[in-house]
Amino acid sequence: MRVQFTILSFLLLNLIITIIHPQSKWIVQAQLIPAKFDGFVYGNPKKFNPESILIEAFFDPVCPDSRDAWPPLKQVLHLYGSKVSLVVHPFPLPYHDNAFATSRALHIVNELNSSATYPLWESFFKDQNKFYNSETSSMTRNEILDHIVDFVTKSVGHAYQSDVKSGFSDRKTDLKTRVSFKYGCSRGVYGTPAFFVNGFPLPDVGSPVDYNGWRKVIDPLVSSKREYEYM
Ligand SMILES: *[C@@H]1O[C@H](CO)[C@@H](O)[C@H](O)[C@H]1NC(C)=O
Repeated sequence: MRVQFTILSFLLLNLIITIIHPQSKWIVQAQLIPAKFDGFVYGNPKKFNPESILIEAFFDPVCPDSRDAWPPLKQVLHLYGSKVSLVVHPFPLPYHDNAFATSRALHIVNELNSSATYPLWESFFKDQNKFYNSETSSMTRNEILDHIVDFVTKSVGHAYQSDVKSGFSDRKTDLKTRVSFKYGCSRGVYGTPAFFVNGFPLPDVGSPVDYNGWRKVIDPLVSSKREYEYM
């Protein structure tokens, strides 16, 4: 009887807490919120202009379609200048064996020298075949990690070799990479490349957008006369 009473009062207490604090659910979820917005700002982050058109791109460093999407995107960024900003989020696809480690390398390098982040994206894109599943299938995890550390060091400079290596044992860089993945999931990303413009998704996830495709999307937005025409 006493035991039953204890259980009953415990359940009652829980019910009361849930009624009084309906937001307690959100407190748990808030623990997933990172201290800083995910992703890498293209150009100088200090010059990031919140009034500009924001492109968010989700790329996997070892995905061929992400690689093919980068040159035309870079070209349109240079065309529009300060009118358009870009944030790239790493999105490691689970069926690419080295996607998480290479995405983590980007977070490691971003901490060491943020200006080296985009050059490293480009190095990965240029030589991503070295990290395809088939190329690394007979290597151990440690061999692959050494391979990635060597590769990254070549891109960012030999002075960083030990920092790059120790970055892979730093739990913080693991968590940052998980945040990138979870952020993509929270936006409904399921393939790469995936693009959002001012928060709205572009169709055809998984296909690169070419130069003319970008012009069709961005041109109407930069001409202020037509700003609200479609609303
Ligand atoms: C940081 O990276 C940029 C771009 O690769 C390079 O020009 C610069 O020298 C690097 N800075 C340091 C301190 O290594």
